[in-house]
Amino acid sequence: MDIVDPRVEDYLASRHAVLDTPVLLEMEAEAAARGFPIVGRTVGVALEVLARAAGARRVVELGSGYGYSAYWFARAVGPDGEVHCTDTDPDNAARALDYLRRAGLARQIRFHVGDALEVLQRLDPPFDLVYNDIDKAGYPAAWRAAREAVRVGGLYVCDNVLWSGRVVGGDADEVAVPDEATAAIVEHNRMVAEDERYLSTIVPIRDGVMVAVRLG
Ligand SMILES: C[S@@+](CC[C@H](N)C(=O)[O-])C[C@H]1O[C@@H](n2cnc3c(N)ncnc32)[C@H](O)[C@@H]1O
Repeated sequence: MDIVDPRVEDYLASRHAVLDTPVLLEMEAEAAARGFPIVGRTVGVALEVLARAAGARRVVELGSGYGYSAYWFARAVGPDGEVHCTDTDPDNAARALDYLRRAGLARQIRFHVGDALEVLQRLDPPFDLVYNDIDKAGYPAAWRAAREAVRVGGLYVCDNVLWSGRVVGGDADEVAVPDEATAAIVEHNRMVAEDERYLSTIVPIRDGVMVAVRLG
């Protein structure tokens, strides 16, 4: 199920052509060539807008891949900010550091190779923004950890929360029993919505982006 009509999705992305840089285009070409699930241009720009609107200086990413989403956060926090990237794959870390160095954004990047939630436990909260994009089965645990690490007034942002529509049962011909990833995302979305310390909304761009602001 497409959340957004592909023609509208293309229109949204095309609005950001002014932000093209050789490194950004190279990162996007790598995703297309390898089928790697980066957030893409529309959500990337949205991440930067959110981080800038929150005045973010300290950001943690749970699941950074090779640095595409970090590219946008690094722009938002500026050279004196911090973006803590995490990924279990050291090859992703090496690629990210190479791309972000060539983009002039390396100064604000701290890349931690390892399990994102273990890394988060070792970091020093609070953070202005915690972004979650790890394996979907880990979403409930990621939320439990992240919700404590965000400062009051800060943001929890999470990708893929509509999961190609599978959170509502998907297409009619799909099996009725949700798989592990879908069940975990549904549980995650329920917990975020029911947490009275946060006000949250799901922005239905690409695969659904959860944005939750900490109120108390
Ligand atoms: C969807 S990709 C991230 C894409 C990235 N946010 C972007 O848009 O450029 C998910 C990444 O999270 C990593 N990952 C999955 N589970 C993880 C975990 N528990 N801890 C750390 N990294 C994890 C994977 O290796 C993969 O690179």
